[in-house]
Amino acid sequence: MLHNPNRVYVFDTTLRDGEQVPGCQLTTPEKIEIARELEALGVDIIEAGFPVSSPGDFQSVVEISKAVKEPTVCALTRAHKGDIDAAAEALQYAKHPRIHTGIGASDMHIKHKFNSTREEILARGVDAVKYAKKFVEDVEFYAEDAGRADIEFLARMIEAVIAAGATVVNIPDTNGYCLPDTYGSKIRFLKENVKNIDQAIISVHCHNDLGLATANSVAGLQNGARQFEGTINGIGERAGNTSIEEVVMILKTHQQLNLHTNIRTQSIYELSRIISTQMRMPVQPNKAIVGSNAFAHSSGIHQDGFLKNRENYEIIRPEDVGVPSASIVLTARSGRHALNFHLDRLGHRLEKPELDIAYKSFLVLADNKLNINDDDLLSLVVPRMVK
Ligand code: KIV
Ligand code: ZN
Repeated sequence: MLHNPNRVYVFDTTLRDGEQVPGCQLTTPEKIEIARELEALGVDIIEAGFPVSSPGDFQSVVEISKAVKEPTVCALTRAHKGDIDAAAEALQYAKHPRIHTGIGASDMHIKHKFNSTREEILARGVDAVKYAKKFVEDVEFYAEDAGRADIEFLARMIEAVIAAGATVVNIPDTNGYCLPDTYGSKIRFLKENVKNIDQAIISVHCHNDLGLATANSVAGLQNGARQFEGTINGIGERAGNTSIEEVVMILKTHQQLNLHTNIRTQSIYELSRIISTQMRMPVQPNKAIVGSNAFAHSSGIHQDGFLKNRENYEIIRPEDVGVPSASIVLTARSGRHALNFHLDRLGHRLEKPELDIAYKSFLVLADNKLNINDDDLLSLVVPRMVK
């Protein structure tokens, strides 16, 4: 397998891990629409569902397989033959099918979820990969709870599943437990100690329980992973999954990392809104990249600096993620510069003495009103009609 060493593959699991969130369930037509949008965004892999879990999920994988052409369509399974049969059948129309199978890798899961032993679990993982290979060439293996797994055992497991034919090895931090440096070191260890690791792509799949999903994913990529898994808006059960838009914009902003995705970043904002609406999951206003305040400057000091040169307070151009422009929000903390900017936008050029007067009235208004709109601003400068 020949890969550009600097290319990072984007694996979207909004429709699988993301859709597991209570209240976020989608109908098949909604999933098809989102899958088409993900294709337009440029994701490389769409995890379309977990076919054995329900007839609806099975059908969604079938329909998404028919609907998209460019991305790989992936279906999740446990390390069970029945799951793999269902996934293979659901993927029959996919141009680029992938089966994503796996099993727990931490002693916690081995003992308390499977009531088993390391050797038995390793053998089950290998068998699942071999079985999936009968149906598709592209098989991804996940070592669930790898974040808490013994690293020597994890390395052995990964080597064995690659030998069995896994093309991608997913190292999930299922519980969002790891710190960036420990997660990064885990990936580095696998890269340096698994002798057949160059025959597979390492994938990072992080959860956000400690707010570290993005940082951990980036640490994994810096240490040799070349696929990351996430969801739009970071949607996902508990505290969510890695936000695709965050990792993509980190790689774009930090060019020195020399890691590149194929994401058309200008479509990020629109897709974020579509997903928020369809999944009935509001985006918090201060969410990085896609929150409604992500490009809104409101304090006087920042507004003044921004108006002098936007790069004083802007590391990402809003247009790069599809937000039409940055906004200067007027509050009681705003200064004259920001007020002048808005009055000018409304066609009122004020000399300094007039601006000083308007600014005094503005502060009184802003102390008493949460949202200052254009009519409020005009009331500061348009003389009142005398009866
Ligand atoms: O978080 C996780 O471990 C998963 C696997 C099923 C890939 O979602
Ligand atoms: Zn997950």
